[in-house]
Amino acid sequence: MIIWGMSGKGHDASVTVWGPNETTGLIELLHEDYTRDKKHDKEHLDQLLMYGDPELVVWYEKPWKKAFRMLYAGQPQAFRRNMLRSYLKEVMSIKCKVVCVDHHEAHAGHFYDSPFEEALIFVIDSIGEWDCTSVWKGKSYSGHLVKLDRVSYPDSLGLWYSSMTKVAGLKPNSDEGKFESMSDDNHLDEYALRAVEKYIMPHSWKPMFWENLHRGVGDSLPGPKKFTPVEIATATQFAFSQKITKMIQHWCDKEKINNVVLAGGCAFNKGVRKDITDLGYDLWVPDNPGDGGSAKSCVNVYLRKKALIDISLNQGPFHS
Ligand SMILES: [Fe+2]
Repeated sequence: MIIWGMSGKGHDASVTVWGPNETTGLIELLHEDYTRDKKHDKEHLDQLLMYGDPELVVWYEKPWKKAFRMLYAGQPQAFRRNMLRSYLKEVMSIKCKVVCVDHHEAHAGHFYDSPFEEALIFVIDSIGEWDCTSVWKGKSYSGHLVKLDRVSYPDSLGLWYSSMTKVAGLKPNSDEGKFESMSDDNHLDEYALRAVEKYIMPHSWKPMFWENLHRGVGDSLPGPKKFTPVEIATATQFAFSQKITKMIQHWCDKEKINNVVLAGGCAFNKGVRKDITDLGYDLWVPDNPGDGGSAKSCVNVYLRKKALIDISLNQGPFHS
């Protein structure tokens, strides 16, 4: 059976191709392709057909769930923009069965590629369908991914970070890497820190905000003092890292686990990764922790769930 794991339709259009391993009979990864375009390209995807026609597509998020959130957020054409079946048919002439995995569960599925037997998985991005931050516990021997907690829209660390990217004069949802590289520990300005933290609600671990930052905070921070882009970037990086490390400390103490998997767009931040390892945690981050990487991890989740169902059906009360 050929399975395609897919993400895209908006950004990070990616595909992974899976097929049976001739020796074990199990489904294994045959090909990874992270294009990072907005939409899938028919010509390019035709090349993937050399592995055979897909009999199943695993999609990295749940379109209808996302459409309801977009409707709630006042975004135009919420349902039209989430018509997955017609998109797959139009762009790729794919008519096979399609299953969808929750956006954050797909990110958390990277756990199965990690070197850990047991770990806490922190998924932090702008917005999934509704979740913006979620915490999971993974145990490879039982196969389960258990969702411990979540923070839903509009409380989003990713949206706050993008808002500050815009304040520094850069393009939000695009220049976050450049914004991070502008930060400089020698330029941590106390007033700039207060100004960027003004939006963050105090909480023991949850990233929560006093206002909805989906459309940013404008082009400058309020107040009489004007800050340089470097001061804004440095203050933002400091507050961002503090929020994430506090979250990790909270959950690792509570669950008594030292292994950490970080996924979602915020996991691209190199400074945060360093701060987590400096605190003594064993950190693992996938090569592509963003939505492109979910084209692989959504299939991890699907296959693991399917295997668990197969096991329970074969060992259940109807089998002697
Ligand atoms: Fe995401």
